[in-house]
Amino acid sequence: MFKETTSANPPILAPGILATAETCVETRTRQETASVLFVDQSGQLGGAEFSLMPLAATWDARREVLLLSDGPFRERLESLGVPVSLACEASVSGIRKDTLRLHWLGALPGIVRQVRAIARHAEHFDILFLNTQKALVLGALGKPLHRKPIVWHLHDIMSSEHFGPLQRFVVRWLTRHAVDHVIANSRASADSLVALARCAPENVPVVHNGVDLDEFRCESAPDMAGLRGQFGLPENVYLAGLFGRLAPWKGQHIALEALARVPDLHLVLVGSALFGEQEYVKSLHAQAARLGVQDRLIFAGFRDDMPAWMKAVDVILHTSTEPEPFGRVIIEGMAAGRPVIAAAAGGVTEILRHRTNGWLVPPRDVTALADAIEVLRAAPEMANRLAAQALDDVAQRFSVGAYLDQMKRVIAGTSG
Ligand code: UDP
Ligand code: GLC
Repeated sequence: MFKETTSANPPILAPGILATAETCVETRTRQETASVLFVDQSGQLGGAEFSLMPLAATWDARREVLLLSDGPFRERLESLGVPVSLACEASVSGIRKDTLRLHWLGALPGIVRQVRAIARHAEHFDILFLNTQKALVLGALGKPLHRKPIVWHLHDIMSSEHFGPLQRFVVRWLTRHAVDHVIANSRASADSLVALARCAPENVPVVHNGVDLDEFRCESAPDMAGLRGQFGLPENVYLAGLFGRLAPWKGQHIALEALARVPDLHLVLVGSALFGEQEYVKSLHAQAARLGVQDRLIFAGFRDDMPAWMKAVDVILHTSTEPEPFGRVIIEGMAAGRPVIAAAAGGVTEILRHRTNGWLVPPRDVTALADAIEVLRAAPEMANRLAAQALDDVAQRFSVGAYLDQMKRVIAGTSG
């Protein structure tokens, strides 16, 4: 459980500092024996799910993933040999963070069933690992039933821009009274929870996501023209790519505005509306028509082969309008060896340094984004230099190996 604190300046905990030589030996032993039930609300493939995948796949002892919705995430886990079970309730899956107040009462019977289902599953494991907001609420509410240590992987910035008052109240209460351990995906996410729950900063260690560098290196990939030909992308143009689900706060509309301002620029949007944001997708098409940029814009939909798609573009854009909790797509772009222009807020500023390993612009600033694209297009040597530094940095700081080591140490340290 969490101690309350009034500390205004939480210390920055570098990933990995939790392990001294002594605790390392101790946790390694526990790590091999502690069984874990991982719970995730989504069957879709988002950043939180991509970060859980290698952890569940390589966990040394018995483990299972319990999903609260079915979808391609289940298939991916199963293909990695991870046992998966489902506890779906349509009424609960239908609750969205923006409609929480209206829907949760009607979903109460479903909520009770899911709390019980998670608790029943958890009884057979040593640790309950909750990977998403709904998993946190449903898993932690059942603590009196299962009485297992709870680890919550925080992938969100718990600010009022991202969440309503009810969700924030519930998270604050559960953090103080039911959660045993939190791991935050960035300092920005950690700080937001410390501010919300007034918990001790040292109780919210940060472990940044990591990427599989070999997967992104793809030595055997064909040249840029070959890749573009293979994907039906225009070959002899300057092409920007924006990778991620289509959702208002991911800011694809900002990229479209910038596209209209930069002559001859082409843009590919890779990703789909994973959580029902169909109205936003329609609005993007209408905006493209209004701006007259349809012939320079490609909607590629959700793609499985991100390394190749990233290598097929000249520059990668990140345009979130709200502070990004971490931003896996940024470290992936760096690993793919492409220059990244990103909105400077939240976890992004823990990854990118302006003009050193990327280019930062203020969020929602269309002019700054358009200017940045022009600058990198006009100075390919500088763009290459940024990309090379980014590749070095991602290998040093954001490898999947380092991520797994740190996560496993923290999780194992909670079971005793
Ligand atoms: N992604 C993918 N195919 C797509 C679009 C996105 O596989 O068509 C992946 C992307 O590679 C990244 C994840 O989805 O690993 C998005 O994670 P991020 O943390 O950037 O954003 P969020 O989880 O907030 O959507
Ligand atoms: C969430 C966040 C994203 C982060 C991912 C992995 O989906 O929105 O910023 O990269 O989790 O931690």
